[in-house]
Amino acid sequence: MHAPLVPRYWADQGVERVLIDEGSINRRVQELGRELAAQFHDGREVVLVAVLTGAVVFVADLMRAIPTRVKISMVSVASYGASTTSQGAVLASALPSNIQGKHVILVDEILDSGGTIRLVRDRLNANGAASVQACVLLRKQRPQALETPCELVGFDIPDVFVVGYGLDFNDEFRNMPFVGVLGEAAIRARSNS
Ligand code: IMP
Ligand code: MG
Repeated sequence: MHAPLVPRYWADQGVERVLIDEGSINRRVQELGRELAAQFHDGREVVLVAVLTGAVVFVADLMRAIPTRVKISMVSVASYGASTTSQGAVLASALPSNIQGKHVILVDEILDSGGTIRLVRDRLNANGAASVQACVLLRKQRPQALETPCELVGFDIPDVFVVGYGLDFNDEFRNMPFVGVLGEAAIRARSNS
């Protein structure tokens, strides 16, 4: 099978190839939703805690794929480091106040260094969540990511810089409806703007 072509507009922005197309994302999100619904079909309340900003697209689709009692909260995490790698994560907002005694699904769009998932999971546990499971759409095939505990993973992907479906470079590309690989030239050209 041939990889789908990059739509003209996005190709012009420097997106080199489609890594995961819209249909594949949608099918996998529905499966993840069914897995969660099966776990919580007994009526226990689930709180989805999504990491801003990248996880907003994923969590919007995921929550609609879970036909059980679901609440949603957001947490903000700042990563420090060069623009395509993270050197450390710190909370940039208060933790949601509604997690005490609740079953929490920590939702992020990508597991890379693992800093974000480890940090937020620890804080949710310390703040009295009854249980915490991490759910990411993408996991990069690199040691730090694979060594980070994560209960639900949508797709394992190569260790390349990806954009789309919430993932950004310099806050752009989040609205691209598929996951694609941004070329080196585009990364360099946008690094100074
Ligand atoms: P961590 O390194 O696992 O803590 O991931 C931190 C954050 O880095 C993720 O939530 C994303 O916002 C961002 N990130 C990591 N890899 C990529 C990528 O390939 N494209 C866009 N953002 C990424
Ligand atoms: Mg993020």
